[in-house]
Amino acid sequence: MNRIYKANILFTKEKSRFEILENGYIAVDDNGCVIGVAKDLASIDGEGAEIIDFGDRLLIPAMNDLHVHAPQYRNQGIAMDLELLPWLENYTFPEEMKYADTAYAERMYRRFVRDLWRFGTMRSCVFATIHTESTRLLMNIFEEAGMGALVGKVGMNRNCPEGLSESVESYIEGMEALMKEKGKSLVGTIITPRFVPTCTPEMLRACGELAAKYHLPVQSHLSENKDEIAWVAELEPESTCYGDAYNRYGLFGQTPTIMAHCVWSEGNEVELMKRNNVMVAHCPTSNFNVASGMAPIRRYLNEGLRVGLGSDISGGHDLSIFRMMVYAIQVSKMHYQQDHNLPFLTLSEAFWMATKSAGSFFGRVGSFEPGYEFDALVIDDRDLNHDNYTLLERIERYIYLGDDRQIVHRFCRGKEVVLCCGQAFK
Ligand code: GUN
Ligand code: FE
Repeated sequence: MNRIYKANILFTKEKSRFEILENGYIAVDDNGCVIGVAKDLASIDGEGAEIIDFGDRLLIPAMNDLHVHAPQYRNQGIAMDLELLPWLENYTFPEEMKYADTAYAERMYRRFVRDLWRFGTMRSCVFATIHTESTRLLMNIFEEAGMGALVGKVGMNRNCPEGLSESVESYIEGMEALMKEKGKSLVGTIITPRFVPTCTPEMLRACGELAAKYHLPVQSHLSENKDEIAWVAELEPESTCYGDAYNRYGLFGQTPTIMAHCVWSEGNEVELMKRNNVMVAHCPTSNFNVASGMAPIRRYLNEGLRVGLGSDISGGHDLSIFRMMVYAIQVSKMHYQQDHNLPFLTLSEAFWMATKSAGSFFGRVGSFEPGYEFDALVIDDRDLNHDNYTLLERIERYIYLGDDRQIVHRFCRGKEVVLCCGQAFK
């Protein structure tokens, strides 16, 4: 049966402003898609629908995390004293090696998915590890929870410990096994070469061929750190830029592609991203923690690049995409201090990046326009709203001050996602 939800509704159809419907209505059909949204019940098409009244609460699109490493969850909030390359070698690779053990993987992955749920992230693009069984487990945990995810078994076969290196043949076999498992569900696979330094040309070629053959999306890292960029130039001397090193292997927009960071992308690389519709996952906390730099997001938006937000646990320490909006705005203010021609990001722009823009990678996700999948959060901000703030002020205060305690309902594709459903959150 169709349902109608009543609440204070906020979403960003355009990045320049919030749509705000005080005591508005959203009708959702049986497939979990929005039929319509309106200020009054009479103008909404919800014949015979059940009405669920959320009173004075806020109803907003759910969060999307475009870049996060599930097997780095144990390292969240530790090991922030090194830059990217030594950080990977000393902290990250040793932790990821533990995921050969499926019992360890299951324990950590359940906590990880539970905490995404807590912070209202209903869709994510996730790096797992090279281990096929643990990756399958992670996909199943998302599936059980009813949360959307594109999960990548990671491709790596050089410049990493033996325990994290896999032959190209074994990688292909594992990927083919994983992709066949999932049909039309909320969970799918994504081709995930870790980054150029850990993938031989043969591995990159295999990744590109799999993406083309099975029409799978692609995710990786791009131009995050200056030492990394110099290393890639040595490893792939014929490439005109780091992005071109992916492009040559069919991993740069030939199928839908997300590149994390893009802190130092410019010139050719930005042109290629634009031409190939490559999406940027902006991960501001990670960029601070591993001292990579400040991604010039205003410049990318001006260029027309697609940009979403990512937590990048555990380079990033914070799983909340709300907090990521704040960090993204703050970084843009530092850029603005250096160059007044780059206006800092507004609240609606940051919200749009986290919802409608990032959501576009998963289909019609991230807005409440008709035809969009109903991914939503209900926020009870009474404890933050002592002084009769406006709805715009209330969402701003929630973004800056709120946390999981104020999120009282979560929906993914029309279904409420509840803690402790099935075995998902042991
Ligand atoms: N580049 C390659 N691997 C990683 C990773 O795990 N985290 C980050 N931040 N950058 C990477
Ligand atoms: Fe990352």
